Amino acid sequence: MLPWRAWFLAAVATAAVATASAARRPPNILVMLADDLGIGDLGCYGNTTIKTPNIDKLASQGVKLTHHLAAAALCTPSRAAMLTGRYPSRYGLVGDDDNKAAPVLLHVSSQAHLPLDEVTLATALSAANYTTALVGKWHLGMQCGFLGRSCPGPLNHGFDTFYGIPVTLFFEFRGPYPFWKFDLSQPAYQRLVGTWMVAMVSIVLGRKYLEWKIRSVILLLLLSNGFFFLYWFKVAHIGINEECRWGVSPWLHRMANSMVIRQDKVVEQPIRLDGLSQRLVKESREFLAQHAKDEQPFFLFHSFPHVHTPMFSAPHMKGVSKHGSYGDNVEEMDESVGALMDALREFDLEDNTIVYFTSDQGGHLESVDFQGRRIGGHNGRFKGGKAMGGAEGGIRVAGIYRYPGHLPAGATLDSPTSLMDLMPTVLDLAELPSVHELVPAAPRKDLDGESIADLLKGESRSPARPPRIFLHHCRKNIHAVRVDTGDHVYKMYLYKHKWFPGSTQCGWGHTEGCHCSKDKMHDLTKQPELYDLVRDPYEDHDPISPKTEEYKKVVGALMQHLNEWTRTVHYPSPQLASRLDVALLPWRQPVCFNC
Ligand SMILES: *[C@@H]1O[C@H](CO)[C@@H](O)[C@H](O)[C@H]1NC(C)=O
Ligand SMILES: *[C@@H]1O[C@H](CO)[C@@H](O)[C@H](O)[C@H]1NC(C)=O
Repeated sequence: MLPWRAWFLAAVATAAVATASAARRPPNILVMLADDLGIGDLGCYGNTTIKTPNIDKLASQGVKLTHHLAAAALCTPSRAAMLTGRYPSRYGLVGDDDNKAAPVLLHVSSQAHLPLDEVTLATALSAANYTTALVGKWHLGMQCGFLGRSCPGPLNHGFDTFYGIPVTLFFEFRGPYPFWKFDLSQPAYQRLVGTWMVAMVSIVLGRKYLEWKIRSVILLLLLSNGFFFLYWFKVAHIGINEECRWGVSPWLHRMANSMVIRQDKVVEQPIRLDGLSQRLVKESREFLAQHAKDEQPFFLFHSFPHVHTPMFSAPHMKGVSKHGSYGDNVEEMDESVGALMDALREFDLEDNTIVYFTSDQGGHLESVDFQGRRIGGHNGRFKGGKAMGGAEGGIRVAGIYRYPGHLPAGATLDSPTSLMDLMPTVLDLAELPSVHELVPAAPRKDLDGESIADLLKGESRSPARPPRIFLHHCRKNIHAVRVDTGDHVYKMYLYKHKWFPGSTQCGWGHTEGCHCSKDKMHDLTKQPELYDLVRDPYEDHDPISPKTEEYKKVVGALMQHLNEWTRTVHYPSPQLASRLDVALLPWRQPVCFNC
């Protein structure tokens, strides 16, 4: 039995008491998550040249969060944090200090995954009798079995149904890439040809002078050429040359990871990128149509593949924006948001559905296409972007909550909030019990997110409430700390990336990023930098002088908090640090036989 099923059964009794007392049906929940969308890419966040009417409308009907923070500036850890309400370092779904392995999941068949004893929003809502579905991108580990016969991924984490992409979109999915490669300028290929010639000549000489039997010669030729083919395959496609940045060549990457999965089986391979967004919307529409009249409410998590590389749009969205293929992608995603909201209206679900829209992290500043044109997002005036640590542009993202009749329309919330607040907030708004009550059989763990329902409703928080502290990790380490004291929002940096002078990024290229490597970092642990984001929201001015009382007081308190934290919270060793955990494992590779 799947673990969450067990919890579910154990939880039914508790949930029954809770839901029976509230006779009404709890609200449905629709979460829409964009990928790599910059906060500056949306009309409602001040972009005057891009057209995002549907997301703007969502904001005008709900509460727009202007200080909404992702727990990490990379997909896997940020998504895990959003669904669990907990820092990913707490359960090791992060990279380590060194650059041995990529700090996100790269392959469908990799072993690393969100640990099964972490409770996700889907697990909690499942326990509250919701019908749960994930449509779109997952990226938290597929847990494929032997020969990839079943890859249950999201189904092991509370989702009843899954249709979408198991890992993420990769630049390489555009393809096609050549299978045959023979680059004689590279030493590995030269060695290969050299040994092959020696082997072939030896066999010919053996036949001629040692009078080997023809049968033996044929056998030797087959065996040696078979061996050479495998050796060539390794040289060409598995982590030796420059091109195999992810441990595999672009060809193998696309072969192994470009797929659409339904439930636990591959149904499309490689992904047909054209029309992918529309197919996902169709799937979500069908889900809404199917469950609109159900007795129990639903939770639909629509996770957009957009606006991650490679850029692709349906024919009717090509060239529509003023911002090239990236802008087209943003506008196509906005169109999908509109289609989902239309579906809610059509099925008369609009008023009884809590809608949340956000992005897993900020825009990828370094990203360029083959022609060297920028295809990354725009983080407004915030500095830095995706794949950094505490840099504001990488973690300050769009966030909108809409729940007509319960939350104000067209309101703005400026207090710092987190994507990790999703689970406690949604449970609160839906008047459901806490996650610990809903899933009592799960190990009891501390949440880092908290309910912001009162803030969303426009209520001010009690002055007696302690200041809220946010930790900003890069891989497993804490790079910055933020504190909301009510009057001030201080941000203290322990590490900062060394950007190219005059920029807030670490280079150019679709695989480039700062990625928290030690050699690309300023170590500020001896004397942290401190900013007040209320006075200096874009960190344009010099940090607060260490000589001031203000600095001493705030940095002293935050350092004390950090000491306490490291003393009491123990992070396990990172899963995304071990090469074996993130490697492509051929014996777990799922394949579509009838695609
Ligand atoms: C869950 O839904 C089923 C089917 O509609 C219903 O029989 C059951 O009582 C519900 N359970 C709770 C806890 O609401
Ligand atoms: C709007 O977004 C596009 C696409 O990222 C960007 O190029 C442009 O600079 C933004 N414009 C403004 C005014 O923020």
